[in-house]
Amino acid sequence: MAQLVDPFERRIRYLRVSVTDRCDFRCVYCMSENMTFLPKKDLLTLEELDRLSSAFVRLGVEKLRITGGEPLVRRDILTYFRAMGRHLETGALKELTLTTNGSQLSRFATDLYEAGVRRVNVSLDTLDEAKFAQITRWGRLPQVLKGIDAAQAAGLKVKINTVALKGFNEDELFRLVEWCASRDMDLTFIEVMPMGDIGNEDRLDQYWPLSDLRRRLASHYVVTDLPDDTGGPARYVRLEETGQRIGFITPLTHNFCESCNRVRVTCTGEIYTCLGQEGHSDLRAPLRASVDDDAHLEDAIRAAIALKPKGHDFDYSRQSVEGRVSRHMSHTGG
Ligand code: GTP
Ligand code: 5AD
Ligand code: SF4
Repeated sequence: MAQLVDPFERRIRYLRVSVTDRCDFRCVYCMSENMTFLPKKDLLTLEELDRLSSAFVRLGVEKLRITGGEPLVRRDILTYFRAMGRHLETGALKELTLTTNGSQLSRFATDLYEAGVRRVNVSLDTLDEAKFAQITRWGRLPQVLKGIDAAQAAGLKVKINTVALKGFNEDELFRLVEWCASRDMDLTFIEVMPMGDIGNEDRLDQYWPLSDLRRRLASHYVVTDLPDDTGGPARYVRLEETGQRIGFITPLTHNFCESCNRVRVTCTGEIYTCLGQEGHSDLRAPLRASVDDDAHLEDAIRAAIALKPKGHDFDYSRQSVEGRVSRHMSHTGG
């Protein structure tokens, strides 16, 4: 089967599927307090998610990351994970994974492992209970820590994603690093990105450049650069003292667009070929119009990939003007 290659000769191997826009938290940089969520009837059914994702796998997608909102709050989501697990068994899919806030992991970890998941990325911005409740608006840290324990006990490798927030978790840098090291977890820091209306909060106030974070790490540890060959947004270093990998996702100061191998599908079946652009195509209509005709669906996917732009245009200096993406991160799942 012809593989997915975009106009800039980038081969698409990585699909991120957002299975719900809902979340049990409301992180202040991600959502406003009173978000309106999509009516359930607009969501792709689990069968449709299966059919659409399977089409991408046939077209050469090797890595599938399930996101949200919070993917584990979608009802019966294990059905979908299990369905995708069968592509692992045939060898068509190399990795099935998810990005989660960890709140439901103690319930799901073993089943996820059994479905074929081996690695999860857990979002965690602070190890302080009060600050955790503040940043997520009402989340409970112990529940997430229990989820991480359960994931590790089930055999899942855990990576932590931390959004670097000025004046919020600056003072926890070394604590986070040491805590992850003590649990054999890699840690990736993310610069806050200008996506979606979040009410009164101002992300520019929260912006903590990772160049500064990196300098602070280097004052404490021996930091060795690792080769930039992941095809993903993170650049990695190794801390020689702890042996752990630390990643930096800095879309505003370094982008990886040139080697970008990913696209994302939302829970309503829109395909966004770039996180940092508004442009998207609808796959739900072709999906529903082609129940017995996979070729039609595959053509629609190819047509969408042909529109993948060269890169994003996030730019804080234009935050209030055109440099801002109006949809929320939870819409496309990061
Ligand atoms: P690994 O498989 O562990 O490399 O994970 P990943 O970085 O592909 O996925 P993850 O969900 O952990 O992504 C972490 C964060 O990176 C996301 O939530 C986004 O904030 C950011 N991110 C993911 N994809 C993109 C992208 O295409 N462009 C940019 N600029 N940032 C991205
Ligand atoms: N900027 C950067 N990261 C964000 N996330 C959510 N919203 C934003 C934003 N505006 C992060 C979450 C999680 C991942 C899925 O995306 O904290 O780590
Ligand atoms: Fe939910 Fe993740 Fe957004 Fe927080 S960042 S509100 S956990 S989707």
